[in-house]
Amino acid sequence: MSRAYIDDVSAERLALLQEQNLELSRLVAELRNEAALRTQFLSNISHDLRTPLTAIITHGEILRDGILGELTLRQKDSVGGIIGGGRQLLDMIGEILTYARGAAHQLTLTRTEFSIASAVEQVCTLNESLVAKKKLDLTVNIEEGLPPLYADRDKIAHILGNLLGNAIDFTLPGGRVWITCSRGAPTERGHVLLIEVGDTGIGIAPEHHDLVFREFAQVDASASRQHHGTGLGLAIARKFVELHDGRLWVESSRGKGSRFFFTIPVRSAP
Ligand SMILES: Nc1ncnc2c1ncn2[C@@H]1O[C@H](COP(=O)(O)OP(=O)(O)O)[C@@H](O)[C@H]1O
Ligand SMILES: [Mg+2]
Repeated sequence: MSRAYIDDVSAERLALLQEQNLELSRLVAELRNEAALRTQFLSNISHDLRTPLTAIITHGEILRDGILGELTLRQKDSVGGIIGGGRQLLDMIGEILTYARGAAHQLTLTRTEFSIASAVEQVCTLNESLVAKKKLDLTVNIEEGLPPLYADRDKIAHILGNLLGNAIDFTLPGGRVWITCSRGAPTERGHVLLIEVGDTGIGIAPEHHDLVFREFAQVDASASRQHHGTGLGLAIARKFVELHDGRLWVESSRGKGSRFFFTIPVRSAP
C-alpha cells in the first residue's frame, strides 16, 4: 500500500470523526437546553398549581370552622374530604417543585441550631391524625443528652416527614411505627446523629433497595396500587441527607417491616 493512499484514508477518517464530533456537541447542547426547559416548566407549573389549591384549602377551612355559619356533621365530613384531598395534592406538588429545584441545582442549606427532638415532635404532630386513623402505635425514643444540630431545620423535617409518611402508608392498621434518635458510630470527620424510622409494614425486598431511592420509582407502580405518590420522596430525602454530608439507607425484607436510617454529622454553630 502506498504512503499517499494511507494518508488519504487517514485524512478522510479524520474529517468524518470531526464531523461526528460536531454533530455530537450539537446534540448535547440541544439536550441540555431541553432539560433546562423541562425543569423550568416543572417549577413554574408546580408554583402556579399551588396558588389555587391553597385557596381551595383555605376556603374549605373557613367553612369547616363554622366562620360562615355552623355546618351539619355530614357537611363537615364532606368539607373535611375536600381539605384532606387538597392537602395530599399540595404535598405532591411540593415534592415535584423540590425535585425541579434540585434538578436545577438550586438547593442550598440554611443552617440554624436546633434539637432533633423538636423536629421529630413537629413531624409527629403533623401526622397525628393519620396515625390515629390507622390505629398505629407510634413511639419516639430519643437518647438523653444528644448534642444540638447545626443544620437545615426545614430539610431535616422534610426527611423525617417523608420517612414517617411512608412508614404510615405502608403499614397495615394496628401496626407499629417508631422513630429513634441516638449517637451514631463516629466517623473520621467527627460525631454523627443516627436517626431511625421503622415500621412493621409490608417491607421491601432486597432487590428493590436501590430502586426505591431512584426518582419516580415505586415498588408497585401499577395503576391499581393502593398508595398514591410521586415516587420522589426517598430520592429527595437522600439528596437532603447528602447535602448535610450524611447517609440514608434501608434495612428490610418483604413482609418483615422496614427500617430506614440516616446520619447527620454534628457541627457546632460558628
Ligand atoms: N416504609 C416503607 N415500607 C414499604 N415500602 C416502602 C416504604 N417506604 C418506601 N417504600 C417503597 O418505596 C417507594 C418509593 O417511596 P417514595 O420515594 O417515598 O415515593 P412515594 O411514597 O411517592 O411512592 C414506595 O412507592 C414504596 O414502594
Ligand atoms: Mg413517599
